[in-house]
Amino acid sequence: MCGKEEIKTLIELAKKLEKDEPQESARNYFLAAEALITQASEHPLEQHKYLELAQKSYQKGKELKEKKDTINTKKRFNSLQSKVTFDNIGGLEDLKAEIRLKIIEPFKHPELFRYYGKQAGGGILIYGPPGCGKSLIAKATANEAGANFLHIKSSDIKSKFVGETEKNIAELFEKAREQQPTIIFFDEFEALGSDRTDAPAHDKSAVAQLLTEMDSVDSKDQQILLLAATNEPWSVDPALRREGRFGTTLFIPPPDLSSRKEILQIHLDHRPTEELDYGSLAELTDGFSGADLKAVCEMATDIPLKESIETGKRRLITMGDLNAAIKNTRSVLRTWFTKAVQQVKKRQMEEEFSELITQVQKSENLVVAN
Ligand SMILES: Nc1ncnc2c1ncn2[C@@H]1O[C@H](COP(=O)(O)OP(=O)(O)OP(=O)(O)O)[C@@H](O)[C@H]1O
Ligand SMILES: [Mg+2]
Repeated sequence: MCGKEEIKTLIELAKKLEKDEPQESARNYFLAAEALITQASEHPLEQHKYLELAQKSYQKGKELKEKKDTINTKKRFNSLQSKVTFDNIGGLEDLKAEIRLKIIEPFKHPELFRYYGKQAGGGILIYGPPGCGKSLIAKATANEAGANFLHIKSSDIKSKFVGETEKNIAELFEKAREQQPTIIFFDEFEALGSDRTDAPAHDKSAVAQLLTEMDSVDSKDQQILLLAATNEPWSVDPALRREGRFGTTLFIPPPDLSSRKEILQIHLDHRPTEELDYGSLAELTDGFSGADLKAVCEMATDIPLKESIETGKRRLITMGDLNAAIKNTRSVLRTWFTKAVQQVKKRQMEEEFSELITQVQKSENLVVAN
C-alpha cells in the first residue's frame, strides 16, 4: 500500500505528465485518489482532509481522461510501438484468421509467397460500424506482424494550403520506405480518400497523389503494407478500391453473444468484482458495440469508486452496478446500420459491401424499418 511519500510522488508525476500524456497522468491521479482513500480509513482524525484530497485527485484524473494524448500529432509520422495483440481483442476469430493468412504471414515470409506465385502487398480496407474494433485490430496486426506502425489520421496530413497535402503524403511514404517493414494505417479514411466526384479540388489532388504513391509501392516489391479503416466505405473514391490498391475489403461486424462475453471479460478481468454472470450480461447487451461495452465497464466501476471516495470504505463491483450501467448506455449501432443500408442501396453498392447487408438480414433489430 502507498504511504504519504508515495502519494506525493504519484501526484508529482501526474502533474508532470498532464500536458503531453494526459492518459498516463490520469492513471496516476486515480492511483493517488485510491491511496488517499486508504489513508483516510486508516487515520480517522484526518479523514476529512484525506477525502478532500482524494476527491480533488479523482476529479483531475477524470478531466484528463477525456483528453486525447497530443504526442502523436506533435511528432508527426513517428512510428508507434503498439502493445495491443490479438489476445486483447474479443471475438472476431474468423477475421483474425483471415488477417493472419492475408497480411501477417505474407508480411513475415515474402519469399514463400513469391515462390507460390502469390503476390503480397496491395492495401486492405477495413470497414464497419463505429466502436467495433477497426482501429484496435489495425494496431494489433502491426504488432503481430512485427512491423513499424504509422497511424495516420487525415487531419495529420490534410492541409488547407494548396499543394501542402500532396507534400505531406509524399513525406509519409518516404518515411515508410526508410523504416521498412512498415504498416501505414489510414484511420478515418473517408476524410482523406473521399470520392472525387463530391470533393473539392484540392481533395482531388490528394487522392491522385495517394494513387501514385500506392502504385509505386506495389511495383517495387517493398515491405510496406497499407491498411485503411472507415465507417463510411461508400464515400471512398472507387479508384482507391480497385485491385492492387485497397482491393480487399474486410467487414468488422458488431460483436455477437460470445464476443460480447469476451469483451466484457477483457475490460473487467483486472478489476475487483464479485462473481459475475457474464452470460447474462452478454444477453442484455445485444446491439452494443465493443466501445459501448467498454463504456459500460467504466461506468459500472465508477459507482463503487465514487461511493468509496465519499464513505472511505471499499466494496466490489457488482452485477447491480453493471446492470445499472447497461440501462444507462445507448448504442449508436442502429443509427449507423440504418444510414449505411440507405447509402449503399442509393449508390447500388450492395455487391461490394455484401457483408453489411447480410449482417442486417441476420439481425433485423439493427435497422429502423422505413
Ligand atoms: N473486439 C473488441 N475487443 C475488446 N475491446 C474492444 C473491441 N472492440 C472495441 N473495443 C473497445 O472499444 C474501443 C474503440 O474501438 P476502436 O477504436 O477499435 O473502434 P473503431 O471500430 O475504430 O471505431 P471508429 O469507427 O469510431 O473509429 C477500443 O479501444 C476498445 O477498448
Ligand atoms: Mg477507429
